[in-house]
Amino acid sequence: MALPVVDTDYLKEIDKARRDLRALISSKNCAPIMLRLAWHDAGTYDKNTKTGGPNGSIRMEEEYSHGSNNGLKKAIDFCEDVKAKHPKITYADLYQLAGVVAVEVTGGPTVDFVPGRKDSKISPKEGRLPDAKQGAFHLRDIFYRMGLSDKDIVALSGGHTLGRAHPERSGFDGPWTKEPLKFDNSYFLELLQGESEGLLKLPTDVALMDDPEFHRYVELYAKDEDAFFRDYAESHKKLSELGFTPP
Ligand code: HEM
Repeated sequence: MALPVVDTDYLKEIDKARRDLRALISSKNCAPIMLRLAWHDAGTYDKNTKTGGPNGSIRMEEEYSHGSNNGLKKAIDFCEDVKAKHPKITYADLYQLAGVVAVEVTGGPTVDFVPGRKDSKISPKEGRLPDAKQGAFHLRDIFYRMGLSDKDIVALSGGHTLGRAHPERSGFDGPWTKEPLKFDNSYFLELLQGESEGLLKLPTDVALMDDPEFHRYVELYAKDEDAFFRDYAESHKKLSELGFTPP
């Protein structure tokens, strides 16, 4: 598909879709899964082959049926309502806009959104997203492939301030924080706190505590929420624009 023409009309539609997404996400309390959808569409990027990335390919059955995408069909269907009202907007833009709005309506930082992503129907092979059962080496392997840094890994992991794991989706269970619909730095406070009744820590979350380079960002973000919001907004924008050159 050719690049969408980002003219005044397109920008107007983006504005309207943003409003619709705010209403949808607030009424359905679905910010966590919308953020996860945006991340899983984008997080397949491979900087060497320039494949994957935020291109809407997660809407294809081949991709949303990957094990790591369990449960995301629900978020894809929510977005379909918005797409029906604003058909001009690409899926790629819509999913990334949904991620940005999810962070905003739950009290997180404003992430700059630049429209113009192209849609693709080509799904990458399964296995590009991180495996929660692994550690720091694996996290670097996966995020460096996207072209992201240690700081990005820790800041973006703060996305687990929202939502929870579901046994029937990932085999893990429970939220990371006491208020899983509030975007704040509590994910990092809970990491430093250690074991806490009813709260989840994935092996990849624990890796952020154990690796010295990651750990210094955990300390910083726990102590300074402004620093977390600033770095998160920057890293989220990078994630949402992998392989994308604004038109
Ligand atoms: C949920 C793994 C990074 C946002 C989950 C779940 C797992 C997981 C296993 C539970 C899924 C379920 O059972 O429903 C990981 C791993 C990561 C990672 C291994 C590597 C660092 C991220 C990033 C973001 C993110 C970068 C966004 C910036 C979320 C959100 C949920 C979630 C919002 C909750 C979804 C819901 O409540 O339905 N993640 N994740 N994750 N993840 Fe991650």
